Amino acid sequence: MQECRNAGDDTGQVIRAALPDDISVIRDIEAAAGELFREIGMNAIADDPPPAEGDLAPYLGGGRAWVATDAADNPIAYVLVDVIDDWAHIEQVTVHPLHSRKGHGSSLIDHAERWAAAHNLDGMTLTTFQDVPWNAPYYERLGFVHVPEQAWSDGLRQIVRQENHHGLNAWPRVVMKRKIDHQNP
Ligand SMILES: CC(C)(COP(=O)(O)OP(=O)(O)OC[C@H]1O[C@@H](n2cnc3c(N)ncnc32)[C@H](O)[C@@H]1OP(=O)(O)O)[C@@H](O)C(=O)NCCC(=O)NCCS
Repeated sequence: MQECRNAGDDTGQVIRAALPDDISVIRDIEAAAGELFREIGMNAIADDPPPAEGDLAPYLGGGRAWVATDAADNPIAYVLVDVIDDWAHIEQVTVHPLHSRKGHGSSLIDHAERWAAAHNLDGMTLTTFQDVPWNAPYYERLGFVHVPEQAWSDGLRQIVRQENHHGLNAWPRVVMKRKIDHQNP
């Protein structure tokens, strides 16, 4: 997908495909954003190391990683997407706290949705913390809805199992989705 400048944004922010040179900055963004969780007592999340280069590489190689950049082309936020059972699954979306609450998160999610629509996927899914203000309540504001357990696809079930194994279910977790209306894109 082409580089895309956000409408109405005078900060020079651009969303573009993530490049190998961005990997260390992506890891820095993740570590910085993790500190938000320490402020609400979720130290284990803050202490979780950012994704390793080897974990990020398949997203870059597969064209499923994008960064939002500042005017100097430095990444300030990123999103990673998997394809799970015909849905684009947001594996991670993170904005550096110095640049939060300026629409970068929602712009990246919208960008991923355009990619999903172009690939004829049904919509977007994600898993997140139910009670963290910038997690499930944020996604609800963006039009995501909760997916009850009986409606989880096999792929989503496997993701939840892996996350539970990793200890994320120490706090309530939810699965959410936002369907794409292919008739009215
Ligand atoms: C979730 C995240 C990507 C949102 O990105 P963002 O660019 O700050 O969000 P947007 O500008 O699109 O939307 C702003 C809204 O996000 C929510 N939000 C963002 N940061 C918040 C915070 N620290 N506390 C409470 N709500 C917050 C609010 O709903 C906010 O709206 P408001 O400013 O009118 O109150 C970002 O907060 C982040 O990187 N968090 C840490 C990593 C994370 O939890 N990622 C999601 C994993 S599922």
